[in-house]
Amino acid sequence: MPELQTKKKVLSLIQPTAVPHIGNYVGALRNWAGMADDYDCVYGVADLHALTIRPEPPALRRQSLEAFAMLLALGLRRGNNVVFLQSHVPEHCQLAWLLNCYTQFGEASRMTQFKDKSTQHADNVNVGLFTYPTLMAADILLYQADYVPIGADQKQHLELCRNVAERFNGLYGQTFVVPEPYIGKIGSRVMSLQEPTKKMSKSDPNPKGAISILDTPAEILKKCRSAVTDSEACVRHADGKDGINNLMTIYAACTGKAFGEIEQEFAGKGYGDFKNAVAEAVVEELRPFQEEYRRLLSDKAYLIQAAAEGADAARRLAAKTVGKAYRKVGLWDGRR
Ligand code: TYM
Repeated sequence: MPELQTKKKVLSLIQPTAVPHIGNYVGALRNWAGMADDYDCVYGVADLHALTIRPEPPALRRQSLEAFAMLLALGLRRGNNVVFLQSHVPEHCQLAWLLNCYTQFGEASRMTQFKDKSTQHADNVNVGLFTYPTLMAADILLYQADYVPIGADQKQHLELCRNVAERFNGLYGQTFVVPEPYIGKIGSRVMSLQEPTKKMSKSDPNPKGAISILDTPAEILKKCRSAVTDSEACVRHADGKDGINNLMTIYAACTGKAFGEIEQEFAGKGYGDFKNAVAEAVVEELRPFQEEYRRLLSDKAYLIQAAAEGADAARRLAAKTVGKAYRKVGLWDGRR
């Protein structure tokens, strides 16, 4: 009889704060799709995390539904995979509280994202922003994930999650799988098209800095053409050529070509040709996703049913871990 193989588990979430950009896509979402067949995957919309920046309620509701539709449009809901919204699974908050009590104030204070966001949102430095990483750790540990596909900016949060899991396991015995980050070789840090020393960000006030994954071909072309480059007029990957390096990363990610191949392809050609080719590659990469997304968004009944099924499946997995962790720390279940 063939040996029964259990697949490793993968988990990742995305915030519904704005339409994802090509950095989210290349750094994370594409890898999620790439792992969807070989692993048991849990993918979700981190709508509770989004509350840390106090979005407008109607916008949050709409963007959460849209983000969910995007995950489905990427084809993530197949096999045993679970796709869900974080707020539909109350166990996330239950475990987050518990983990807060096993996370030191000092280690949470060292998170660079907390420092950056405190500066960006100086008028609303709420406690949720501070405990953001423990909610993220709960997301991961609830599902006993082995791998977490993320962009480079989330690496520090994952390190914190590993430390907390190891601390808890050390105190109470094996409870949580200690997860590994999965950071792709290409595109783990896509930079702004306008300021290529800064990461591409959904909250960039300059709309030309980021290509949204729902942009039209004309918008994509316009943004690529206006991308900041340098005066050398030679397509090569080198220190100090941040703009070109970034466009090469995007092009490499969308075409599968290595940097060397790209340099040969554009030898003797100007940046104009290269920018057009980058735009075309992005348009082609996003086309099937955009078509499927539009189709799904017009089928709300299906989205509602898929969200309910995702929540049920996620809750079944998450409840087991919360039960186990509650028992370990000595919370009385009122039964024995
Ligand atoms: P979020 O919503 O900011 O981003 C989603 C994913 O996109 C990656 N990313 C990038 N990759 C490459 N270049 C960029 N410029 C770029 N910007 C963003 C992010 O690293 C992320 O993988 N905290 C998470 C959401 C989250 C989560 C989790 C992730 C909540 N719980 C549990 C993993 C596991 C976030 O804000 O991602």
